Amino acid sequence: MPDCADNLPRTDRRPAVMRQNRRAFLQALGTMVVASSCGPSIRAAYSGELGRECPNGAHPVFGAAVRSDALRNDAPYRQAVTKFCQVVVPEGELKWATVQPKRGQFSFSDADSIVQFARSNGLNVRGHTLAWYAALPPWTAAIGSRAEAEAELVGHIRQTVTRYAGVIPSWDVVNEPIPDRPTSVRDLRESLWTKQIGPDYIPLAFKTAHACDPSARLFINDYDIEYEDARSRAKRDAFLALLRRLKDDNVPVHGVGVQAHLAGSRAIDRARLGDFLRAVHGLGLDIMITELDVIDNQFPGDEALRDKLVAEKTQELLDCVFDIVQPTGIVTWGLSDKYTWVPIYYKRQDGLPNRPLPLDRDMQVKPMYSVVSEFITRCGA
Ligand code: XIL
Repeated sequence: MPDCADNLPRTDRRPAVMRQNRRAFLQALGTMVVASSCGPSIRAAYSGELGRECPNGAHPVFGAAVRSDALRNDAPYRQAVTKFCQVVVPEGELKWATVQPKRGQFSFSDADSIVQFARSNGLNVRGHTLAWYAALPPWTAAIGSRAEAEAELVGHIRQTVTRYAGVIPSWDVVNEPIPDRPTSVRDLRESLWTKQIGPDYIPLAFKTAHACDPSARLFINDYDIEYEDARSRAKRDAFLALLRRLKDDNVPVHGVGVQAHLAGSRAIDRARLGDFLRAVHGLGLDIMITELDVIDNQFPGDEALRDKLVAEKTQELLDCVFDIVQPTGIVTWGLSDKYTWVPIYYKRQDGLPNRPLPLDRDMQVKPMYSVVSEFITRCGA
């Protein structure tokens, strides 16, 4: 049975800055949903100036994946993050390759810098991610048995979640567990973890994270579940079947992350995505949009038209989700087009820069931002 006790630090190993003001920080987090803001329009709605407060007082939060180097070096970006976001997610700083580049040598400096930036600006943090097939450091290729894989997975999660216990209240524990083309509802994406541990790696990751921070909300996160095609259908079916198995086995999973890396050219299956979300909600799980961006490589080059199409795709998704359930948050995978992963895989053939995010390269709001902000101020279904 996974627990955190063996490895709990005798003394608190968190950096002093995290320990000293922890109480104040946590108090701030506790009031954040109603007291904080996401830019001018959202600030107004949160304080009730628009006369639209939710009966239960909770709006979804808005946030973005952020990069520690850009936060350090780019003042306009830094200001935009504090102006528009309530929550930030380290884009790569909490992945295995960064946290444990050599076996047993943990390096949290980049993640710490984001956490400290967040706390000094009153922002919340989500952690991403603890068990994924990608971003594994080279040394993990030498892991050669089930026992060794379990020990490394548990050890890594213990170190990471314990360090930020009470400070990072929400984690993408398992990322992208479903294959791109599942052949059955029990199919899982191949990884070091499935090869050595099998399907049990998922409960093991959740139980370990839960033992190390019982108050953290623990998510399972995946992509390409939004569309009409057979691939997306099979992914939804396998994802839902996995969630049912986890719930049946009392695994401490609290939420589902809909990544929403939206392909501009693929139609969203409103009815079937709705059915999926209703079923997830019926299992008692939270739903969060965790990595929203609109992949614009197939859109026309004209900027104004492209921005309009990106905003419409965003609206199409959010209309569908909010019809079924109010997500706990909308997180975009980057805030500004200046810092986006999209060109790594989806460069435009005309050579124009991608524009997948709510702010442009100069930190000015785009139509996508207006759409997101309109949903953030809604109370939902
Ligand atoms: C991406 C980052 O944005 C890139 O900078 C990095 O090189 C590769 O990973 N789904 C996820 C994210 O869950 O972790 C990925 O992030 C994007 C796809």
